Amino acid sequence: MKIVSLFSGAGGLDLGIKQSGNKIIWANDFDKNAVETYAHNIGDEICLADISTIDIKTIPNCDVVIGGFPCQGFSQANLKRTIDDERNTLYKFYYQVIEEKQPLYFIAENVKGILSLGNGNVIKQILSDFESAGYVVELHKVNMANYGVPQTRERVVIIGQNKKKVGKTMLFKFPEESHSKDGQNGLPKWITIKEALDKYPNPDQPNSLCNHVYSKYKVVYRNFTAHRKTNPDYPSPTILARGNGKGGVCAIPHYNGERRLTIRESAAIQTFPDDFEFFGSMGSCYRQIGNAVPVKFAELLGKELIRIEKDELCEKIKEKKTA
Ligand SMILES: C[S@@+](CC[C@H](N)C(=O)[O-])C[C@H]1O[C@@H](n2cnc3c(N)ncnc32)[C@H](O)[C@@H]1O
Repeated sequence: MKIVSLFSGAGGLDLGIKQSGNKIIWANDFDKNAVETYAHNIGDEICLADISTIDIKTIPNCDVVIGGFPCQGFSQANLKRTIDDERNTLYKFYYQVIEEKQPLYFIAENVKGILSLGNGNVIKQILSDFESAGYVVELHKVNMANYGVPQTRERVVIIGQNKKKVGKTMLFKFPEESHSKDGQNGLPKWITIKEALDKYPNPDQPNSLCNHVYSKYKVVYRNFTAHRKTNPDYPSPTILARGNGKGGVCAIPHYNGERRLTIRESAAIQTFPDDFEFFGSMGSCYRQIGNAVPVKFAELLGKELIRIEKDELCEKIKEKKTA
């Protein structure tokens, strides 16, 4: 399928979608480093600009729009603020692209916190907006560890299907979980951080891996996010894009307790391939990684798009021809 990617970042979502056989025809982000990373590893279809300065007419028509919209604009206090609120330009832009381009599908990833904004009224409003734009929508809560990602990252994925062009019955079969916490349902157990990272050389010894450097931010256990001991026999906690209070991003401590994860190791937890090179300062690289959708999970979404295109949409076109 032909894909337009909004808020693309370094391209975790895009890489997975592309690797499964889809074509990214246009992508955008306003972060210079993320765009450099994207262009180097994925392709020069990425354009560097603040999305709110882009004329929607210049974005090419496509089959699928991917990318989560930042939701800082939603206030807990004022629930009426969605598409009608000028301050909510990013969501508004995303919505307008869907409304005007009418792609067959859209896939939006977001943080789990979006579900509790305004006691759940914000997400209700968002889903209802997309329904009015002509889409049947499905929301899925996901723990990435259940998809073979060595990380207990919880996210929300919204799938929208164009009612007019594809139909009201959702054809997109959300990927089935492939792993489970303790091996329930005959599925393999969650992949641990140790299993994912043991192969990497000591970053303090000479090595040829790119981005295998780590933040010297001290490992001190204070029992909150990124200051907890990392259990080698469990998946990694969520790789963060948030700050360490000193202008950098807080990398997870390594399970050896002696240092923080390197950029390479953090990327491996997000299932980026080892030759995917990140550009920018150390803080920027950690942030691009923490922002990303795990590539392995994105690939499953991409495969489903391919399946739909081959099986379902072909069938639909055939049906129309014979009718
Ligand atoms: C959560 S990240 C997306 C990560 C991406 N989906 C991935 O898998 O790597 C959100 C991105 O939105 C970008 N962004 C935020 N505001 C923007 C704006 N006004 N214009 C363009 N990009 C923006 C940020 O730079 C950031 O890279």
